[in-house]
Amino acid sequence: MNSTLITNIGELTTNVAAAGDPCGTMRDAAVMIEGDRIVWVGPAADAPHASESDPAVERGGQRRDETPTAAVEVVDAGGRALIPGFVDSHTHLVFGGDRADEFEARMAGTPYAAGGIRRTVAATRAASDDELRRRLADFVAELHAQGTTTFEVKTGYGLTVHDEARLARLAAEVTPEVTFLGAHVVPAEFADRREDYVELVCGEMLQACAAHSRWIDVFCERGAFTPDESRRILAAGIAHGLLPRVHGNQLGPGEGVRIAVALGAASVDHCTYLDDADIEALASSGTVATLLPGVEFSTRQPYPDARRLIDAGVTVALASDCNPGSSFTSSMPLMIALAVREMGMTTAEAVWAATAGGARALRRDDVGVIAAGKRADLVLLDAPTRTHLSYRPGVPLIRTVWRSGRSG
Ligand code: NIG
Ligand code: FE
Repeated sequence: MNSTLITNIGELTTNVAAAGDPCGTMRDAAVMIEGDRIVWVGPAADAPHASESDPAVERGGQRRDETPTAAVEVVDAGGRALIPGFVDSHTHLVFGGDRADEFEARMAGTPYAAGGIRRTVAATRAASDDELRRRLADFVAELHAQGTTTFEVKTGYGLTVHDEARLARLAAEVTPEVTFLGAHVVPAEFADRREDYVELVCGEMLQACAAHSRWIDVFCERGAFTPDESRRILAAGIAHGLLPRVHGNQLGPGEGVRIAVALGAASVDHCTYLDDADIEALASSGTVATLLPGVEFSTRQPYPDARRLIDAGVTVALASDCNPGSSFTSSMPLMIALAVREMGMTTAEAVWAATAGGARALRRDDVGVIAAGKRADLVLLDAPTRTHLSYRPGVPLIRTVWRSGRSG
C-alpha cells in the first residue's frame, strides 16, 4: 500500500473541533496517508519517519531502494496551509448548452426569474449521452483542479422519464451523491396540466431514477413547485428510499425551509429570504442551511445573512450551485471569498462550511475532516494560512490535491 507523509505543514485545518476553534487548527503539523485513508495526524516533530534523515527518500519523491509496498513518499509542505478537500454539496453539472446571453442581459438589468431553465432543458434533451458525458468529465476535472474532492450532482434538465433517467445514470458515473430533481420546473409541454407532471415525477420518473440516486430534491418556489406539490414529491421520493433535500427561499419568502425541517431533510439550499420563524426552525433542527453565494453574485440578489444564521446556532454549508443559469462557477474558493466579504462569515467559518459543512449537508462522516480513519482528501494551499482564500480572491492558490490518497 502506498504511503505519503506530508510534513512541515504551517497551518493545518483538521475540522476536529477544539475549544473555541471549530476548525481544529494545528501549527507545524504532519499528516500520514496510507492507501486511501489518513492514518496519523500530529505535530511534525512526532511524525513517523519525519525526523529520520534518510538519503534514500527524496523530497517529494519515493524511496528508490525498496519495493513500492514499503515506499513512503515524503512531501515537504514548506510551511504552507493544508485543508480538507472541498465538499461541494450542490451542483447541476449535467446539461447541454450555456446561457451566456442571459447573463449579459441580466447584468444589463433583466432580473433572474429561473425562466431560462427551460432553454437548458431543450439543449440537454438534444445532446447525446456522449456529449453530456464529455462535458461532465470536463467539469469534474475543473472541480478537482480547484480542490473539490467530493461533489453532488442533480438531474433536472431532462424532465422526461427518459432524459431524467439518463442524467441520473450519467451523474452516477462520476459521484455517489446523485440527486433526482425531476421537480425543477414544470416543462413547457405540461404547462397547462401541471398536475399530470407532478404525477409523472412521483410515479414513472421517480421509478426510473431512484436506482441511480441517493437524494430527492424539489425547487419549492413561486414559478416552480407549490408547497403542497413539494411535500407530495418529497414524500414519494422518501417512500422510494431517497433522502430529502430542498431548494427553498431563493427568489422570495416561502415554505421551503419549513417543509425541509419538518421532513428532517439533510439540507435546505439557498435560504436567501428567511424570516425569524425559518431561522428558529433551522436552529432547532438537524437540517443544514446550504448557502450558495455564487447565485447572489451572478443574479445580483441580496446575499443571505450567514452571520444571523450562525449566531442563531444553525449549521451552515457553502456550495457552488454550479449551473448554466444562476451560478456558472464551480469555484469553492470564490464561495469562501464571497461568504467572508458579503455574508459576515469569518474565513474559519467559511472554510469549515465549504468542507465539514458540505459533508454534513450530504450526511457524510468520511470526508470534510482531517483525522485518522477519514478519507485522504486534502488540499495543500500555495499560502501560509487559509485566510489567503478570502484575502487573495481570484488567485489560484490550490497547489496540490489528494483524492483518496492520490495526488494530481
Ligand atoms: O439552484 N433554483 C433552481 N435551480 C438552479 C438554477 C437553474 C437555472 O437557472 O438553470 C439554482 O439556482
Ligand atoms: Fe440549485
